[in-house]
Amino acid sequence: MQKFLTAVTMSAAALLLLAGNALAAPNTQPAEMARFDGDVVVRVQPRGDADLRLLEQLSDDPWTCGPSATGAVDYRISREQLATLTLHGVPFSVLIEDVQALLDADLAERNQPFENRAYFDTYADYTGVSNYVNTLVATYPGFVARISLGNSVEGREIFGMRVTSPVPPIGGVRKPVVVLNSLQHAREWITVTSNLYTTTELLSKYNTDAAAKSILDQYELVIIPITNPDGYVYTWTNNRLWRKNRRVTGTSTRGIDLNRNWSVGWGLSSGSSGSLSSDTYRGPSPFSEPETQVLRNYMLGVPKVVAHIDLHSYSQLILRTWGYQYADPIGLASINRIGSAMRDSVAATTGAAYTFGGSEILYLASGTAPDWVFGTLGAFSVTAELRDTGTNGFVLPTSFIVPTGNDVLSMVKTMIQKLCRADFNKDNVVDDSDFVNFAVAYETLTTNACDLTGDGITDDADFVVFAAAYEQLICP
Ligand code: ARG
Ligand code: ZN
Repeated sequence: MQKFLTAVTMSAAALLLLAGNALAAPNTQPAEMARFDGDVVVRVQPRGDADLRLLEQLSDDPWTCGPSATGAVDYRISREQLATLTLHGVPFSVLIEDVQALLDADLAERNQPFENRAYFDTYADYTGVSNYVNTLVATYPGFVARISLGNSVEGREIFGMRVTSPVPPIGGVRKPVVVLNSLQHAREWITVTSNLYTTTELLSKYNTDAAAKSILDQYELVIIPITNPDGYVYTWTNNRLWRKNRRVTGTSTRGIDLNRNWSVGWGLSSGSSGSLSSDTYRGPSPFSEPETQVLRNYMLGVPKVVAHIDLHSYSQLILRTWGYQYADPIGLASINRIGSAMRDSVAATTGAAYTFGGSEILYLASGTAPDWVFGTLGAFSVTAELRDTGTNGFVLPTSFIVPTGNDVLSMVKTMIQKLCRADFNKDNVVDDSDFVNFAVAYETLTTNACDLTGDGITDDADFVVFAAAYEQLICP
């Protein structure tokens, strides 16, 4: 106990300096790194399909996967292609004047001497992130355990951590699990730092912040910082703007979009592509990729996943299920209650404006992780598209790391606080009908409906969890 107290009262600065050593290697641009001299990122307001087809012909790098609610699409294009757009009278505005200049500035900034830098002052590469996980394990013994989920296409470890306090859960089984995974998409670096920042804040505030304590006492977080390790390494060594995994799919085609490779809704609607060269290529079959397989297997193996966030960038959105269709999910009222509270809490704490909604606020996406988590495990699950709204897009300056980390911290805290385990029929209120429904299902002991602990059986421990939540008679 003494050891643990020392650990959690250790100053954040000291911890971060410790971690900084793991990152001492300078960020020099590898010689073979793709360059984008003179390229611009434009936000186009297409007048119709012809404009969209023209864009698809011109650019091999969409920064959005389809028209947003306003109909706008973002693309990286060359100066010459920009002239073509102008020639055709396509309406557009320039988001980023010079992509290579932005990348150069970012690299120069990250090349600042490290000595006095803290972990969240900069981005860390694959090894740096892995070392930081080890640092957390060493700094918070009893709270953090490193886990290994399996390997990527190119054989890299997909690692993660289990994070919870040593306080035992009601009923003595494993606590309900909240999964936070980042970087299915390789270029979305801000998702990695935000995930680690959130974890670090909850751990370091355990003794001083009642909300952090309550979360770690009642739940276990499963953190997977780099879901797509091969893609991530590739963005550090070859092409900062790579999205998919690195599966060899043909002589000159590479990669499957991991967030189109999950089974629920796979290949349905317009939300993915069957074309090998597409940035949203769904793969030959659901779960064809080891990266999605291992995450699925892990989640199937834990007793009970009760909530999940799949972290992406950019656009500042909190997207509820479904991704693959516009039809309402079961329990929409509860989902809206939690999601809108997440949005509001971010605005109140960091001031960042996020929009909450279903696919109508972005575009349809099929075969996504949240659809699988919600559709298969029945857990609350959202996609969080982090900062910014397009000024820097995927190449977010390091000054955004802490503010965006605080966005996610706020989302996670609110999401967990608002989970309502007594709203058994998911009508957004806790009342007698929840008690009756629970009691009836409990009595038969035949279905898994009452298995709130998620250990595969309905027993006293489930009753204890339900009763503890029901006693409050409100959805938090
Ligand atoms: N930007 C994400 C992607 O393309 C969004 C996925 C979720 N989208 C949705 N409509 N729910 O993978
Ligand atoms: Zn993404």
